[in-house]
Amino acid sequence: MVESKSNDLMERIVALCKRRGFIFQSSEIYGGINGFWDYGPLGAELKRNIKEAWWQTMTRWRDDVAGLEATIIMHPKIWEASGHATTFSDPMCDCLLTKKRFRADQIDPQSGTAYHYAGARDAAPANAGRQCEDPYAVLIETGKHPEYARKVARQFYQQRGIAEPEFLGERTEVVENSTRYNPENGSLLTEARQFNLMFKTYVGPVESAENMAWLRPETAQAIFAQFKNVLEVSRQKIPFGICQIGKAFRNEINPRNFTFRSREFEQMELEFFIRPDEAVEAISGHVAKPVGPGHPGKPQPDWGWQIWHQYWVEERLRFYEGIGLPRASLVEYWQKPEELAHYARATVDILYRFPFSKRDAKGELAGEELEGIAARSDFDLSQHQRFSGKAMGVYDDELKVAWPKLAEAKKAELSERYFAARLKYLTKTGEPAADAGRQARQEAANLARGNYVPHVIEPSAGVDRLALALISNAYCEDQAPDDKGNMETRVVMRFHPRIAPVKVAVFPLLKNKPALVAKALEVRDLLRPHMTVFYDEAGAIGRRYRRQDEAGTPFGVTIDFDTLGEQGPELKDTVTLRDRDTMKQQRVKVNELLPLLSEKVR
Ligand code: GAP
Repeated sequence: MVESKSNDLMERIVALCKRRGFIFQSSEIYGGINGFWDYGPLGAELKRNIKEAWWQTMTRWRDDVAGLEATIIMHPKIWEASGHATTFSDPMCDCLLTKKRFRADQIDPQSGTAYHYAGARDAAPANAGRQCEDPYAVLIETGKHPEYARKVARQFYQQRGIAEPEFLGERTEVVENSTRYNPENGSLLTEARQFNLMFKTYVGPVESAENMAWLRPETAQAIFAQFKNVLEVSRQKIPFGICQIGKAFRNEINPRNFTFRSREFEQMELEFFIRPDEAVEAISGHVAKPVGPGHPGKPQPDWGWQIWHQYWVEERLRFYEGIGLPRASLVEYWQKPEELAHYARATVDILYRFPFSKRDAKGELAGEELEGIAARSDFDLSQHQRFSGKAMGVYDDELKVAWPKLAEAKKAELSERYFAARLKYLTKTGEPAADAGRQARQEAANLARGNYVPHVIEPSAGVDRLALALISNAYCEDQAPDDKGNMETRVVMRFHPRIAPVKVAVFPLLKNKPALVAKALEVRDLLRPHMTVFYDEAGAIGRRYRRQDEAGTPFGVTIDFDTLGEQGPELKDTVTLRDRDTMKQQRVKVNELLPLLSEKVR
């Protein structure tokens, strides 16, 4: 019941997105293309505002983060180094009957009775002797008539050329929580096989193996590949970050939940480079760790990776709250050790409680991932160092100065810890033991000279998922009076003014009064250089308000006869300012409008 309410809400949201021009299906006139979406006029503005808010927060308002804009197609070696070429895959299986494709790890477990068939022979006299020995099975609810299973199995064998199937054998098995059957029709699925999610293309006119390239599945790798260049030109020192916004492509097996899982999407990623804990300890004498939940405050030189990780989780939560997602709509999910990527020390996913999310044991929407914040150790830069042969280490003056002052026992302890960590990494990459040992020893010696490969904390968010979360969060139906004062249901998108696609709508009360229109255009032109303004003179004023409520425009400015001074000089050059959420109107002087609105939409 609750589930269907959520689905119903999702359907209304999807309908609004199309009706009002937030999101359209890509290539709709040709029947669409699965997993690709276009943003209409309002959606395009919303996405720009999201990216702008992120970029401001992550780089322009910080001294310790620099921006980057890299290409989508990069050298294929990048994807070998990152591991995507070999391991960026999802398990996939197909329905043996309908051929529908599933992500094997997303199939809801099914229980019931499985009917197994060893094959079928053809009972049609014209096909005497024909048989198919493909084994097949159908899962049905325990207690349901076997004919349900047989009907499906007959279709399976008919597809294999057996016109009148007579089963070669039928046995039953009670099955608990199995993901081997299609939840929609009970048919057996193929065995799961790995499917690489990267889109392939060719650079240049010849489609040969050496010209093959991938469309990037994440923006992060360009940041690692350009790490040294950015470090040099930005004159940053560790700790510092590089951020990027851009398109990413994944050939998702099963795109779903509207734009949530798409095949083309945008990411906003930060790679924040930090010292390894051994270097922090050598410089500060200790490593500060989180002392409790919450924001740890202003970054400090003694922070180790754990507190930096916590810092970025809290920064990101603040960001979401700052653009209107209430804290209660977000979930901070700490990945379990068995869920972590092999290089990650800790990952926190920030989930949003989308209407299509599953419900948890308490009946609350469990949430779906908006962003992952991973502590990725020094894996990425180390990989690029290995694959490119270019040094990715940095010289840290403070470490170089601090190291000689350490007690011998401390030097030995820190060296040994660093050696062990590097040895673990090198051994995992498949280096022969002796080489790995020699190299790790060399790297521990480099640490003592102030050189190390930086570690990284990566907050990685999706623009499209955030747009969908903001749309879902904003969607609201309430009651409001129509032009005749009768109450009607109003759809209102309660976007935070900072990310609302249009900030203010300007309306002349009547379009056939040139003086009103001229004044309204004057107000539009006054505001336009500073914020997105929509001018609308068509239809009754109540209808115009409703249209802007649906678009999520937080403010409406109406120019009426008072503005022209026709009702008395005291109201001349004042307008009504309407608030979308409260629907309250106040009289404001035209020359006070800009500072007042600028303050509200900032
Ligand atoms: N560099 C790390 C990385 O790419 P990820 O968890 O695979 O990590 C990061 O992706 C974010 O990108 C996700 O939290 C999500 O917001 C977005 N994202 C990933 N796959 C997506 C898809 N198929 N459709 C829309 N957004 C996606």
